[in-house]
Amino acid sequence: MPILHDIAWATSVAALCWRRQSAQRKTVSRLPRPLSQTIAEAIVTMSVDILFRPFALKSLNLKNRIVMAPMTRSFSPGGVPTDDVAAYYRRRAENEVGLILSEGTVIDRPSSSNDPNVPRFHGEDALAGWKRVIDGAHAAGGAMAPQIWHMGVMAPHLSGWMPPQPFEGPSGLVVPGKPGGNGMSEQDIADTIAAFGRAAADAKRLGFDAVEIHGAHGYLIDQFFWAGVNKRTDAFGGSTLPERSRFAVEVVKAVRAAVGENFAVLLRLSQWKQQDFAVRLAKTPEEMEAWLAPLADAGVDIFHCSQRRFWQPEFEGSDLNFAGWAKKLTGKATITVGSVGLSGEFIAAFQGESSQPSPLDELLRRFERGDFDLVAVGRALLSDPQWVRKVREGRMEALRDFTKEALATLV
Ligand SMILES: Cc1cc2nc3c(=O)[nH]c(=O)nc-3n(C[C@H](O)[C@H](O)[C@H](O)COP(=O)(O)O)c2cc1C
Repeated sequence: MPILHDIAWATSVAALCWRRQSAQRKTVSRLPRPLSQTIAEAIVTMSVDILFRPFALKSLNLKNRIVMAPMTRSFSPGGVPTDDVAAYYRRRAENEVGLILSEGTVIDRPSSSNDPNVPRFHGEDALAGWKRVIDGAHAAGGAMAPQIWHMGVMAPHLSGWMPPQPFEGPSGLVVPGKPGGNGMSEQDIADTIAAFGRAAADAKRLGFDAVEIHGAHGYLIDQFFWAGVNKRTDAFGGSTLPERSRFAVEVVKAVRAAVGENFAVLLRLSQWKQQDFAVRLAKTPEEMEAWLAPLADAGVDIFHCSQRRFWQPEFEGSDLNFAGWAKKLTGKATITVGSVGLSGEFIAAFQGESSQPSPLDELLRRFERGDFDLVAVGRALLSDPQWVRKVREGRMEALRDFTKEALATLV
């Protein structure tokens, strides 16, 4: 499905959701009791204490199970994180986020980014900025990992900015059938794998607690997974998902070699693509196992399983979500994510849909059952640095709505 179709689809879904929510708001406003009390009671019918147990794995020692999801903010002019960016992350550390994942930060390839305000994870100036970020997070008692990223073949940024060289990907396709950059040579692939390794080594050298590889959402690594845009006939392509996983496996191996055995390596994956939400890489548990097992063997410690709505089952016949299946199939720790604590999902949020605080019960039910180890929260933490503290203290009436205006500032 071309990106434009997606946007039209998301806009109409957003409009529908908005109408439904305003109808719900009208119902709520007729309730006799104060709205804040009603919301608070709805959100905490179960105890949140289990989310506040510590978690330790290799280099990670977390005070609780709540992770700030990686969120691109584009507030780093020339790719250098500013003091405002450092203060934004520090506020999350001060307010008890267990693990902060940075926004996607791009590796050392000429066309790894389509936006000059997305932070780099290479070059002395940018790495000095990141050093201030991690020192600030640690000073406030937090733990943090950068999310290292190569966008692959992308649509140009709205600003019209273009990288110095054409975008690169497995076969140069931005969506199935539509060229948008260069197909990578074997040398390009080897250099890119090495650049991921260098970024991971820098993460460790700067003092970060772990590193996350962005392998989701239709960016470079995911473009290799996806048969629709990976048409290669060499060792990095093929008709099966394990064959197309070779690039990701090599990236994980390079990252592992760069950081050693005792540094935690996270890998973010999604079935869906921003280019087409309906794509599913693994259609059965067997296919998922064949996809994830080689990645686990290559050195992944934690699979970060990206869904837009965490409660959606991955396969028929079970209510397990993606993180639930990944944990069951690999035995590795997993992170779930997607509309935790909010009524609407994040793609619609880009179209202007606002979201209200929503119950945590279903999340807690799955967590208690042992489906996943950690829970990532995106927009709720983007707009409210105190979200975790409020949840722990049971101050649910103080939780805020998410509106798209929050995207414009670093609160
Ligand atoms: C403004 C914004 C930027 C995002 N940027 C990234 C990113 O850089 N890397 C990534 O893996 N996901 C990114 N995401 C997806 C989030 O990490 C998360 O998966 C998504 O927002 C769903 O979580 P939520 O419903 O709690 O917001 C972004 C989401 C938002 C709202």
